[in-house]
Amino acid sequence: MSLKKRAFPTHMDIELSSKCNLRCRFCHLSYFTPKEITQLSTKDVRDRIGPFLPHLKSLTLFSKYEALTCRDFIPIFEEVSRFDIETYFSTNGLLLNDDIIDAIAGKLTYLTVSVTGFMPETYKKNMQFDGLAKVTANLHRLNARKAELGTEYPILRISTVGMLDTIDELEMAIDFAAEHRAAEGVQVTFLKAMGPEMVPFMPLCDLDTFGRRAREASEYAEKLGVKFVLQSGAITDNLKETKDLGHRHCGIPWQRMSVQPNGDVYPCPVTSTTVGNMFDQTLEEIWAGDELAAFRAGVNDPENMNEDCRNCTHCRHRSIARRESNDFSEAGSYIGEMKRKTRKAKVAN
Ligand SMILES: C[S@@+](CC[C@H](N)C(=O)[O-])C[C@H]1O[C@@H](n2cnc3c(N)ncnc32)[C@H](O)[C@@H]1O
Ligand code: SF4
Ligand code: SF4
Repeated sequence: MSLKKRAFPTHMDIELSSKCNLRCRFCHLSYFTPKEITQLSTKDVRDRIGPFLPHLKSLTLFSKYEALTCRDFIPIFEEVSRFDIETYFSTNGLLLNDDIIDAIAGKLTYLTVSVTGFMPETYKKNMQFDGLAKVTANLHRLNARKAELGTEYPILRISTVGMLDTIDELEMAIDFAAEHRAAEGVQVTFLKAMGPEMVPFMPLCDLDTFGRRAREASEYAEKLGVKFVLQSGAITDNLKETKDLGHRHCGIPWQRMSVQPNGDVYPCPVTSTTVGNMFDQTLEEIWAGDELAAFRAGVNDPENMNEDCRNCTHCRHRSIARRESNDFSEAGSYIGEMKRKTRKAKVAN
């Protein structure tokens, strides 16, 4: 893989808001507090990110939180849609109202809708909200609008968290993707444990059972003609490819840049190492700067590896067997400099 430095990134991840309307049982937001709870405005995007937009091939409009909680979601989306860029975000789908559906239908390239629990009671257990009927209705309305416009966009995908007490619902996830004409099918993320009660459900606690159920689901998906992707890869491939480095070879900091709504810039969506702030410096300065260069030097070098990279948590690069990359139940902080909530604060949320 070529790791040549480019004049501009070809991809950006822009976090529009560090809030969410849910507190899913498994999510970092149930256990950690973002460094700053804030959101981007249309002006921020126009003034600070605008100069990069003509150079991008693709743009992800979320990173760790819920993009649809951003007050300016629609004008920001209109602003970035003026450029010929592939656009994408992931959402729990509960805030997909008619105005948002009108704004994205025919324009957004990819939309992932995250659902863990495909029966009302298992959805409620995992997402901590009785919302399966609502997300189902929203997906029907989005598909109706797409049909009216005669467009395939946004291309849909259903994402579900793979853990030892949800793997028996993978076939239901596949049926759900088929029902909602999700051309990108089902993607399964592998649980990272944020608190001690989630540790026993990590795939690494029983890779044989997890692997067997995932294979069975994959066969079922094939019969139905639904795409089925394990985001960290098939278990045997992941174990082989992450054995030496602790993560798969990674080129992200040479291709993309990740921005948080407080302006902090990170070399990838899962680090806690800032390389500048876009309200203090231009993105061009940060992209060409010494801090990002120093980080890049520690991405794939086993002798001089960044701590973040050694224990990489990125679905596509991380080891599923290393406890350090999957178990954050005792960690005081998490990616993007989130801090663990106190017990009292957690209950309050
Ligand atoms: C953190 S969410 C942010 C975007 C949006 N709120 C959503 O839920 O799609 C991104 C993805 O991470 C998944 N996810 C959340 N917590 C996870 C965990 N502990 N382990 C694995 N995947 C997780 C979610 O299911 C979702 O598909
Ligand atoms: S909807 Fe997404 S960001 Fe919100 S709590 Fe659930 S997984 Fe986390
Ligand atoms: S933390 Fe992971 S995804 Fe980020 S640069 Fe390092 S290896 Fe790549």
